[in-house]
Amino acid sequence: MRIASPTHSQALRPDFESAHFRQALSRFATGVTVVTTLAGHAQKGDTQTSSFVGVTVSSFNSLSLSPPLVLWSMGTKSGNLPLFQAGTHYVINVLAADQLALCQRFAYDKGDRFADTDFTLGQAGLPILSGALAWFECHNRSRHEEGDHVIFVGEVERCGFSQDSQSLVYQAGQFGTTQALA
Ligand SMILES: Cc1cc2nc3c(=O)[nH]c(=O)nc-3n(C[C@H](O)[C@H](O)[C@H](O)COP(=O)(O)O)c2cc1C
Repeated sequence: MRIASPTHSQALRPDFESAHFRQALSRFATGVTVVTTLAGHAQKGDTQTSSFVGVTVSSFNSLSLSPPLVLWSMGTKSGNLPLFQAGTHYVINVLAADQLALCQRFAYDKGDRFADTDFTLGQAGLPILSGALAWFECHNRSRHEEGDHVIFVGEVERCGFSQDSQSLVYQAGQFGTTQALA
């Protein structure tokens, strides 16, 4: 075991493999979201399904009530990263327990992910997925590159939620849903 001086100013080198780190992180249960924005060739007001991009994201979290801020992160290798960095807005859709198919479509499908997806357009002209448990229409307030991800801070302009659906939950590589403890 290494003894660190309590005053050391830089982090020690990790004493674990990357896979071990991933497994430890995966024990933290999260909800699942799909974040949507405008495709590169599209303009606000376009309505064709190919005008939009969307990505499954579990790194969403609340940040501030006043002003209303949320955060999420995207890997620097994601093909859609430049679109989310450049866009003025995005919508974060929190998936309900019966939306596992959407989670998989927006994580793995290579084609038009909106072609067989029901959605409406929000104030910023971006997709709000039908049946989402909650949605947050965000101004793309700031971006912070850290390690192999970019942290996005969104300022929420509008939001909505469903009163009675359950959440899709992701933990240790498996999907489930919420159940209240008795
Ligand atoms: C449950 C789940 C959660 C995910 N969470 C994130 C995330 O928080 N950030 C991220 O960049 N990718 C995340 N991914 C992976 C992206 O969804 C996937 O790499 C992306 O859709 C690939 O599209 P792109 O490379 O075309 O952007 C997640 C995937 C799954 C299945």
